[in-house]
Amino acid sequence: MFERLQKKWNVSGFKLILIIAIFAIGGSLTGYSGRKLMSFWEIDRGIGWVVLYILLITIIWPLAVLLVSIPLGQFSFFKNYIQRIGKRMLGKSKVKSGKSNTGDSSFTAQIAIFASGAGSNAQKIIDHFRNHSSIKVALIICNKPGAGVLSIAERENIPALLIEKEKFFRGDSYVPELKEKNIDFIVLAGFLWKIPPALIKAYTGKIINIHPALLPKYGGKGMYGHFVHEAVIASGDKESGITIHYVDEVYDHGKIIFQDKCAVLSTDTAESLAQKIHELEHKNFPLVIETLLTR
Ligand code: GRF
Repeated sequence: MFERLQKKWNVSGFKLILIIAIFAIGGSLTGYSGRKLMSFWEIDRGIGWVVLYILLITIIWPLAVLLVSIPLGQFSFFKNYIQRIGKRMLGKSKVKSGKSNTGDSSFTAQIAIFASGAGSNAQKIIDHFRNHSSIKVALIICNKPGAGVLSIAERENIPALLIEKEKFFRGDSYVPELKEKNIDFIVLAGFLWKIPPALIKAYTGKIINIHPALLPKYGGKGMYGHFVHEAVIASGDKESGITIHYVDEVYDHGKIIFQDKCAVLSTDTAESLAQKIHELEHKNFPLVIETLLTR
């Protein structure tokens, strides 16, 4: 049961212990307040008890757990948890795409991250949405056995899928698997394979990529990782940056959503530039995704 909860909430074992403790203390405090209120107001059975019960569940319990969660550093988890329950009670939960037969329908958007490498961007995105009330990283897709992003998925208890070239490019492009998991949005974070037409068709306007330069410069086939930074340094450009853009059938071509710049100094190397670019990516990518999915 604990493992299931850990998976469901995407939390570490230690954090799960804290959360359970907060539930227990919050519950006891609610019970205590209920008894106090009963003796204070001398409420009669019947309707009075029903009112008290509703008051306890809707106001006192949420307040109690929120208060206890502050010193234990779990306020944002409980804030999101209570918001989610509230939405569910009010019947506001829905999946934007309207396909909620499987998966967790309390999220308005479920993301699949596609990555081929270390996955530092994937990690930042996972961190950002860990306790989010309406957005969830539900799947990691990777094309490289042993890639760092697969260890991240394992550590974070996020389902991962190692994909095969044949099925991706000449088969169904894993669309059935994505649909089955109710994936609404695809984020490419260092994914080195071109996205096949079948996948673009199934997720039109719902696939974004991050590129480590200011597109339309330094994009296209073969322009990834250190090749991009080496080209920027060789060109003598005084600035570089990041581009977040929609994905279409041409490499690094879709509509630009966001760009941020950094200076390229004469002392910069491809490595030092890569570091600056990573900082920009980590700072902006999760926020841009959140803006796109909540506007
Ligand atoms: C990032 O620089 C991204 O712009 C590019 O690939 C890199 C992935 O890095 N598309 P990481 O695996 O997220 O660390």
